[in-house]
This record gives sequence, structure tokens and C-alpha cells, in this order.
Amino acid sequence: MRSTNRLATALAVVATLVTGIYALPKVTRTGRYLYTEDGTRFYIKGVAYQEQGELSTDPNNPFLEPSSFVDPLADANACKRDVPFLQQLGVNTIRVYSVDSSLNHDSCMADLSSAGIYTIIDLSLPVNGSIDRLSPSWSTNLLDLYIRSIDVFSKYDNVLAYNVGNEVVIGPQGSDAATYIKAAARDVKAYLTSKSSSALVGYAAIDGDNTWLDPLANYLSCDIANANSGDNSIDLFGLNNYEWCGDASASAYASKNGAFAGYNVAAYFSEFGCITSPPRLWTETQALFSSPMSDIWSGGLAFSYFPATSSQGQFGMVTISSDGSTVTTSDDFDRLKTQYGLLSPPNSPSQSGAGAATYPSCPAQNSSFIASTTLPPTPNDAACACLQNNLACQFTPKTSNVSGIVGPLLDTGCSLLGGVGGNCNEIGGNGSTGVYGRVSFCDPSTKLSFVMSEFYEANNRNPQSCDFSGNATINKNAPSSIANANAAASSCLANPSATFTPSAPATASGGSQTGGSGSGSGNGNNNNNNNNGAMSMGGQQAMLGVIAAMVISVVGGALTVL
Ligand SMILES: *[C@@H]1O[C@H](CO)[C@@H](O)[C@H](O)[C@H]1NC(C)=O
Ligand SMILES: *[C@@H]1O[C@H](CO)[C@@H](O)[C@H](O)[C@H]1NC(C)=O
Ligand SMILES: *[C@@H]1O[C@H](CO)[C@@H](O)[C@H](O)[C@H]1NC(C)=O
Ligand SMILES: *[C@@H]1O[C@H](CO)[C@@H](O)[C@H](O)[C@H]1NC(C)=O
Ligand SMILES: *[C@@H]1O[C@H](CO)[C@@H](O)[C@H](O)[C@H]1NC(C)=O
Repeated sequence: MRSTNRLATALAVVATLVTGIYALPKVTRTGRYLYTEDGTRFYIKGVAYQEQGELSTDPNNPFLEPSSFVDPLADANACKRDVPFLQQLGVNTIRVYSVDSSLNHDSCMADLSSAGIYTIIDLSLPVNGSIDRLSPSWSTNLLDLYIRSIDVFSKYDNVLAYNVGNEVVIGPQGSDAATYIKAAARDVKAYLTSKSSSALVGYAAIDGDNTWLDPLANYLSCDIANANSGDNSIDLFGLNNYEWCGDASASAYASKNGAFAGYNVAAYFSEFGCITSPPRLWTETQALFSSPMSDIWSGGLAFSYFPATSSQGQFGMVTISSDGSTVTTSDDFDRLKTQYGLLSPPNSPSQSGAGAATYPSCPAQNSSFIASTTLPPTPNDAACACLQNNLACQFTPKTSNVSGIVGPLLDTGCSLLGGVGGNCNEIGGNGSTGVYGRVSFCDPSTKLSFVMSEFYEANNRNPQSCDFSGNATINKNAPSSIANANAAASSCLANPSATFTPSAPATASGGSQTGGSGSGSGNGNNNNNNNNGAMSMGGQQAMLGVIAAMVISVVGGALTVL
């Protein structure tokens, strides 16, 4: 036996050397704690790792959120440059805020894995790639974006978790957006399960008053059906916490410890490292990684390896030379390295003593937290593509910067529709009443085509009412059997509130021109429209320029710094 084992071990070592595969042990959640495969408790000892993109100057965006990003896991040279410093720092996890699924990540992910470093990957992107906190929805374009990233990263052994959102809810007002976050967690979890992935599903929250933060955390980990099921629960709640400033004391965390003392899934600090009382001493790590905090939290991530500007000042532990070739560490880096090196968090409770997972009922709605337990449905690509193909008037942008015009055009379209007695309820949703329009899960372009079609039809298909300054085109392939946009929705969205396990999107992007087997000769109503077009156009022109209250274009999302 003994010699066989030795031989097997020797062969395994050889295989490892030959193939270069150094599989990191899987990290899974048992109850509220994380464990590696051998039953050792796992604490996230990490650092945020992403260079800051261009900062948004939108006055509606008070958080200095970026308007662009550079995927740090697609830059093989930068990873080779930085991994030795991440190792010096002693981290076992990095958090990356935005990735580009069209790029290759093999080199960085392999280098990180070899260094024993896991990744927490935020699936959202700046601008139009996150759940918009001002006008939230959980829609096909976001689901597809998230799935594409998961598909690219699921082959690596060192993805610890995927975050479905960062700082989407920032207070009682707008906490209805939690319904969309929870729906995203539900669908991403189902997708990961269908791929046999054990990666955790997370959310990272901005810190705030416990009266809304506590219900938000409990809501994201509760079971809407009161069946103690984890199907609609996150696994990992991240708190972006900057409460410990300078050489504070453990009492800095008393309130948050109290709020999370009985939490049912894993929680950690998805960012920490206050900059308002410099220098940063990083003494909070001693508190966070020892009892009693280690009973409540599974570690945290220091913000940030790279320089990052915020309204409170400058973050960062290294500077990179202008040619990108060298790293200069700061005293901040050295102090964190020293503090991380001193940690020996308790290996308790044991995995068998961690207790079975429980998923309590959801917090009641009140004025501090207004999210309904009726979640939005799973976005359905096929249904939205069918709808788009069957609509009489289609959004046909002439620019590639679609995200720059779709919001203003929706505002215009909804206000025009309001002027002819219609409304935009079908494309909207209400996370506090739990009522979602049938078209609410479609991507913004399909929503816009729906609104344009309703307006066009309300104007008796006057061709000029399917123009929108050159942004819309009459769909000659729309089937004549489908009377109008409402009928198209009924036909394509037969079960608009369904939840199901999503599948990977088709590789071709949306807005396809296929389908529509109807006659090529237009539709029966056209005759009327040709006669009385000019009059209704006068009314439309007058309404153009009306600023609707509905704003779709502003973003909630990625890499937010206090
Ligand atoms: C709402 O409920 C939460 C607990 O879920 C509580 O902390 C908060 O104080 C309540 N807010 C109000 C206004 O009652
Ligand atoms: C964001 O907008 C760009 C172009 O404006 C588009 O290519 C991309 O698919 C959009 N992303 C999402 C998630 O909607
Ligand atoms: C897209 O359009 C918006 C709104 O006009 C603008 O702010 C943004 O800079 C544009 N983006 C690109 C990449 O051109
Ligand atoms: C949702 O509905 C409630 C009750 O009708 C209303 O007060 C609230 O403004 C609505 N929210 C949104 C985002 O439309
Ligand atoms: C399309 O709509 C945008 C936003 O309202 C507008 O700026 C543009 O001029 C319109 N026409 C074309 C052809 O892009």
C-alpha cells in the first residue's frame, strides 16, 4: 500500500509539473462559513485589484463611478508584474470589478492560481452593464452579459464568487431595486448549478444605517417562499465598510457586528481601509480576523492595490511606472503586508459544527426598506427576440453608441405615448408593489421598439410616427396576423412571470432581422395613415423635447468609491 501511494503521489507531482495544473482547493459555504475541501475554515484575506477607469462627471452620479474600465485579468504582462507583489502582501483573494468576456484571461488566472490567489468577480459593467439604481430592471442584456462572463471564467479553478451587483441600493429610497438584485442572484445561481459550478453568488453593499442595510442583507439571503430554500438566496454578503479610521478600536464595528450576529449566509468586508485619518495602520485586520468578529465575518478585502481617486481622497498602495513596467510600493503596502502577516484567524467552528443552511422568511416591508417579495421573472431572450421581430415599428439606431441614445429616446417615446393616452407600464416594473410589465425583462432596445410601435399604432400607423428623427423603421416583415404591439406581447410573452434556469445566449447579438413570415407588402392599416399623417405630426413635433421624468440612462454600479 505504502509504495503504491508513493508512486501515485510521485506520478501526481510529475503530472502537475508537466501540465502546469495547480488546482486550488474548492471553497464552499456551509451555513454561514466558508471552508476549503479539507474542512479548513476559509477567510477572505484580500485586496481590490482594478485600475480605475475614467470617472463619470454626471451630476446625477455622486459616487465618482467610472464610465469605462480596463479588464485587469486580460493583461498578462501586468499580472506577471503584480502577482509577486500580491504574494508579498499575503493575500489569498483579489476582487475585480469589471471584466470583458471577449478577452483571454488564461495567463492571469493561471498566474494567480499558481500563487494561491482566488478571485471575486463582479459581473456588472459601468454605464449600461449594471442594475441601474435610478431605473432598475433585470433584463436579457444584463443576464446575457453575466452569463457570458461566467462561461469565460468557469473553466478556472480560482473563481471564489461572482457578484451580481455593487452598491445598487444606497438607502431606503430605491431599496425596491433589491427585487432585481435578488432575481439576478436567483438566475445566476440556477445557471451556475446547471453548469455544476460551486462558485458562490455574492452582492457587495454600500455601508449605511442598519434600519435599511440590515433588512437588505436579510432580504438577499431570505427565502421568498418560506420553504427554507436557498434557491433565491445569495451565498456571500459583502459590506463595503470604512468605519475603522486611523488607530480606532474594536468598538468601531459594534453596530455592524450586532446587525450581522445572527446572519444565515457568509458575510465579509468587500472593501475596507478608511483614508480620512492617515496613515492607514491596517490595525482593523487584527479585529476582523479574530474572535469575536471571526464568528460573524469571513474576512475582507483592502481597498485598493491600484491608486483610486474618491471624493474622500486618494486610495492605493502601489504606483505603476508610466510605461507599465515597474511597481513601486508605498508605506501603506508595507503596513498592510505586516498586518496581514500577523493574522492567525481561528479554524473554528469545524465544518461539521457549522450547522445546516437556513433561509428565513423575508423581512417585512416598511418605510426603511420597501422591496416586495414578488420578484421579477427570469429574462427570456427568445421571447424578447420574438417580440422584436413581430413589432410594427423597430428601433434601428444609426449609431454604435446605442446606450447613449436609448434612454433619451425612451423618455421621448413614453412622453409621446402619454400624449396619445398610452403609457409605458408594460416596459416598467415596480419593485415595491411587485408588479412588473410584460416587457420589463427585455433589453432596452426591444423596450424602445415596443414603445415606438405602440405610438405608431396609436397614430393609425402614420409612417411619420415611426421615425423618431431617423431612429425608427417600419418593420415590413411584421406578421400581418399580429394586430399590434399588445398582441405581439401576448403571442411572444405567453408566460411573462416565469422563472427558469437560463441558458447561454446565442453568440450572435440581439436585434436579429430574421423571422416574420408575414407578407412583404406591408400591413392592412397603411391605407388610412397615408391620408391624415400631417395633422398628427404637428402634435408630435410639439411634444418633442418634453423632458420625461423617466430616466433610463444613468447607471448604478461598478467600482464605487465613497
Ligand atoms: C424597518 O424594519 C427594520 C427591520 O427589518 C428595522 O430595523 C427598521 O427600524 C424598520 N423601519 C421602520 C421605519 O420602522
Ligand atoms: C451597452 O451598450 C453597448 C453599445 O452602446 C452595447 O454594445 C452593449 O451590448 C450594451 N451592454 C448591455 C449589457 O446592455
Ligand atoms: C455615448 O453617448 C453618450 C450620450 O450622448 C455620451 O455621454 C457618451 O460619451 C457616448 N459614448 C461614447 C463611447 O461615445
Ligand atoms: C411603485 O408603486 C407605488 C405604489 O403605487 C408608488 O408609490 C411608487 O412610486 C412606485 N414606484 C416606482 C418606481 O414607480
Ligand atoms: C436618434 O435619437 C438621438 C437621441 O434622441 C438623436 O440625437 C439623433 O439625432 C436621432 N437620429 C439619428 C439618425 O441618430
